[in-house]
Formats: sequence, C-alpha cells, structure tokens
Amino acid sequence: MTAAPAVRRSELSDALRACRGAFIGVGLMSCMINLLYLTGSVFMLEVYDRVLPSRSVPTLVGLIIIAGGLYIAQGMLDLLRGRILGRVGTALDEALNARVFDTVVRLPLMVGNRSEGLQPLRDLDNVRSFLGSMGPGAFFDLPWLPFYMAICFAFHWLLGVTALIGAVILVTLTLITEYMSRSPAKEAMTLAARRNDLAASSRRNAEVLVAMGMAGRMNNRWNEANEDYLAGNQRASDVTGGLGAVAKVLRMMLQSAVLGVGAYLVIQQEATGGIIIAGSILSARALAPVDLAIAHWKGFVAARQSWQRLNRLLQQIPPRAAQTLLQAPSKRLLVEGVTMVAPGDQRVIVQDVTFAVEAGSGVGVIGPSGSGKSSLIRALVGVWTPVRGKVRLDGAALDQWSSDVLGRYIGYLPQDVELFGGSVAQNICRFDPEAKSDAIIAAAKEAGVHEMIIKMREGYDTQVGEQGTALSAGQAQRVALARALYGNPFLIVLDEPNSNLDSEGDEALTRAVRAARERGAVVVVVAHRPIGIEGVDQLLVLKDGRMQTFGPKETVLGQVLQRVAPPPPIKIVSDAGAAKP
Ligand SMILES: Nc1ncnc2c1ncn2[C@@H]1O[C@H](COP(=O)(O)OP(=O)(O)OP(=O)(O)O)[C@@H](O)[C@H]1O
Ligand SMILES: [Mg+2]
Repeated sequence: MTAAPAVRRSELSDALRACRGAFIGVGLMSCMINLLYLTGSVFMLEVYDRVLPSRSVPTLVGLIIIAGGLYIAQGMLDLLRGRILGRVGTALDEALNARVFDTVVRLPLMVGNRSEGLQPLRDLDNVRSFLGSMGPGAFFDLPWLPFYMAICFAFHWLLGVTALIGAVILVTLTLITEYMSRSPAKEAMTLAARRNDLAASSRRNAEVLVAMGMAGRMNNRWNEANEDYLAGNQRASDVTGGLGAVAKVLRMMLQSAVLGVGAYLVIQQEATGGIIIAGSILSARALAPVDLAIAHWKGFVAARQSWQRLNRLLQQIPPRAAQTLLQAPSKRLLVEGVTMVAPGDQRVIVQDVTFAVEAGSGVGVIGPSGSGKSSLIRALVGVWTPVRGKVRLDGAALDQWSSDVLGRYIGYLPQDVELFGGSVAQNICRFDPEAKSDAIIAAAKEAGVHEMIIKMREGYDTQVGEQGTALSAGQAQRVALARALYGNPFLIVLDEPNSNLDSEGDEALTRAVRAARERGAVVVVVAHRPIGIEGVDQLLVLKDGRMQTFGPKETVLGQVLQRVAPPPPIKIVSDAGAAKP
C-alpha cells in the first residue's frame, strides 16, 4: 500500500516506516513460505517418479514424514506472518490514534460544517483492519508469481506458456477489479458517513423527534439513507465478488489446462507423469495469491482511500508544535483589533474589537442576539482563531501557548452547556486524573453548587449521563460554572452563565464573579439579563459584530439606557396636577 507521490513523506508513512523491521520480517517469512509452497509439487513428483516405479514403501513413508514436517512449518510461518501484520496494524493505530482524535476534535473549529465528522477515526479503523486481514499476505505472495512460472518453464516450455497465459489473464482481471471498484468503494464510504451522521443527529435530538412526532419522518429519511448505502455497498461488493468468482473459475480451468498439456506431453513422451501433477499443482499455487488479492480488493481499495484521506487531513492540521512553557498569566487581557469569520465561512461576524483589562477586572458583554458575543468569546478562549488581530494574555498571543497548558489558565462556560459522561467530580475537575478533592470542592463552593451536589444521591460521585442528561438544565449550568472556576484560572469567560438559573443561582454567580476578581482573575461575562452583569465593572456593547462602546459599567449603562429609552417629552395634560413631570 503506497500513498500518492505528492504526499509521500507524511506522518502516516513515517508511522509505517517505523514498522519497517516488521515488514522486512514479513518479507523474509513470505520468502520461506513460498519456498515451502513447493512441498506439494515436489512430493507429487517424487511419489510418481521415484516411489511408484521402485515400489518402495520406506521411501514413501520417509517422504510423507518430510512433507508433513514442511507443511507444519509452512502453516506456522503463515500464522506468524498474519499475526505480525495484524500487530503492524495495531502499532500503526497506537501511533496515530491520539493524533487523529485530536484532528477530529479540532477540525470543526477550523472548517465548520465541512469537517468529515468521525470519518477520520473510521479511516484509521479501515487501515488497521485491512492490515489485519489476509489481504496483505496475498500482496506479499504476488511477487513470487514469476518464480513459479520459471519452474513451470523448467518442467517444459509448453507448461510454462500455458501457465503464463493464465497468469496474464488473471493479472488483467486484477487490474480490471482495481479500475472498476475504485469509485463504488468511494461512493459506499460517503453514503455510510451520511447514514451515520443522520443516526447521530437523530439520537442527539431524540426529545424533539418524539415530542413533535418527527420520529416517523426521520425514520423514513434514515431508511432512504440506509437503502442508498446498502445499494452502494452492494455495487462495490458485486464488482469484487463477480470478478473474484471469474478468477476462481479461471484458475481451476488453468489447472486442468496444465494437466491436459502435461498429458499431451506424456503421450508424446516428452515428460514424466509426475511432472503433469506437479506442474498443475504449481500453476494453481502460483495464481492463488491473485485470487486472494481480488477477494480482498474491496478492503484494499477502502483502506487505500482511507489512507489518502487521512494523509490529506493530517497535512491540513499539522501537529501542534511543542511551545516553550510561558509563565502563568497574571496581569492583563488584551484584545487587539480582533476580526473573525465563522469556521469554513467567509462572512465577517466580529469586526475590529479592541479592549484591554487588568487583573481583577470583570467585563460584561451585552448586545442583541446574533451580534457576535459568543463568537468574540470563542476568540478570547482560543477555540476560534481570529482572521485578523490577536488576543493576548500578559502580552503573549494565545497561539504561543499549547492548548493543554493554556487550558489551565482559562475557565470557559459555553452558551450550550454539555457535560460529559462521568461523575460530577470528574466533570468539575475537567477529567484530570490527578485532581485533588479539595480543589474540586473549592471550585464547587465558589460556584455555589456544593450544597446542591451533596444533596444528590451520590454526591460528587453522581454519574452525569451522556450530555449531562441526569441533571436539570440549571444544575448542569452550575456544575459547568464550577468546571470553569476549577483550578483558579486567570481568564474566566462565561457565555450567558445564568440563562437557566433561579435567583439563588444568580446570586451565587455574582458572588463567584466577585470572588474570582478579588483573587486577581479577569472575568468576562455575556449576559442578556442585568442580573448577570452585577459582578462586573466594565461593559462592552456589541452590535452587528462591531464594538459600540467599552468602558466603566455605570458610564456605559447610562449611555445605553439613554439610547434605548430617550427621556419622554414633557407633556402638558389638561389636568395640570396629575401631569407634573
Ligand atoms: N458556527 C457558526 N457558523 C456560521 N455562522 C455562525 C456560527 N456561529 C455563529 N455564527 C453567526 O455569527 C453571528 C453571531 O453569532 P453569535 O453566536 O456570536 O451571536 P450572539 O451575540 O452570541 O447571539 P445570542 O445572544 O443569541 O447568543 C450570527 O449571525 C450567527 O449566524
Ligand atoms: Mg451567544
């Protein structure tokens, strides 16, 4: 399996190159296996030409013992070769899966909806499972075809020519298989991805589907997608299956043809009886890998396409360079002319936002729906990269940090809270296996959620279902607040942290914002309700992606209120006493 020339030196080929030793071993084993494949032919030759004429039973027994031993050796080598190839697949997977998972996570942040979802992980599976199948063994045996041909020629040129014609036909058949299965395999893969996406989104939105009677309709869409997939898959299988059957029949015909030619040679007294049988076995043996290769061609094409797709993807998202460790930020947040477009889109959604705040400040971000608040916030925490401008912590732009290290200094509560399957404590400590209970409880207390958690049946060990389903929306939001506060990060960014909170939750939020500021953090809060920005001292107003105002809260609020509600004109009403302004 080779990658396209343009992408030869890639991480994938490097990973495969690391398994070079294993491949050399497999090559050597294939060498021995193919020599051992001659056992049957040589045995036949000896039996016909030596044992039968001499009628010697001891010779026969000796031959049987030797042949038996060689067969066993061949079987063991074959087994070993299969295992090594399987392990190469596993090693390749182990070397790359973390990297591929990382791209699966990061790709949507870079290209938006054009990302291929979980396909890269499936691609890695494809490559691994192909390496573990019988297919690669067949590819190692194929180069031996000329060797067997040469032996056939050595028996008699007529036998050689017959076998050669057969070989040419079968190799042509292999090339036809390759040509015809390429596009059906690709199509089947795309259809499978579409089908899986549909299933995943239906599962995520099960409540909506059931409540509004959309389940049946979604079922129909699924059926259609599934039928398309099955048909596509069938087309791919039909091609390789059909050609595989032809190959098998041809191989049997060839075997008989060689027998026929051998018989003719014996009649003409140009060969011995043993040669007929041996030649027939040999030619069948020579072409067996072609059969096997055609049978595994579908898997091969799928693995090759996966390989190329993975190569493209890994090049598109290069590994993150190991950045120099910077000191923990502690002084200021600087946003310099940040302009953003949504991933995979051209439309500008945040334009030229500039502001700076010192440690201990709290910034409220307000503005109408769709004004770009959440988008701006995504730039602050580094999930979307601005097309222009920089976000800096203590002067260092976010891209100078590795994201794992930066994550320690950032607390982020997204607008749509989703917790991960695991315990409440694990969710709060961001699944850090070395987290200390004290730190978890401190974060929970700071978020004002400790009491709520210990009232749960299993306290901090309560299992949060997938997507946080075991908690109410408000509870999940408060646990997510504790997660944002965990580890006392320097920059805490909360996107509508109170959208699901009751008044007690609102107060806890305000307390948490104040406490974080007091210990020297910068807190940025997006809020629609005034209560959300109670704990901040600065306000930033966004409208249509542009910064309208930024400044001390009281000043900005005054301006906004004036703009939103200009003082009513003084009306003189006839009843003078009631109309005093
Ligand atoms: N992932 C995305 N892909 C494409 N466009 C997006 C994406 N996310 C947001 N947008 C667009 O960016 C604009 C700003 O969205 P954003 O979510 O930042 O608004 P917001 O101010 O947070 O609104 P809300 O108050 O409703 O949360 C919207 O017009 C939206 O359509
Ligand atoms: Mg928003």
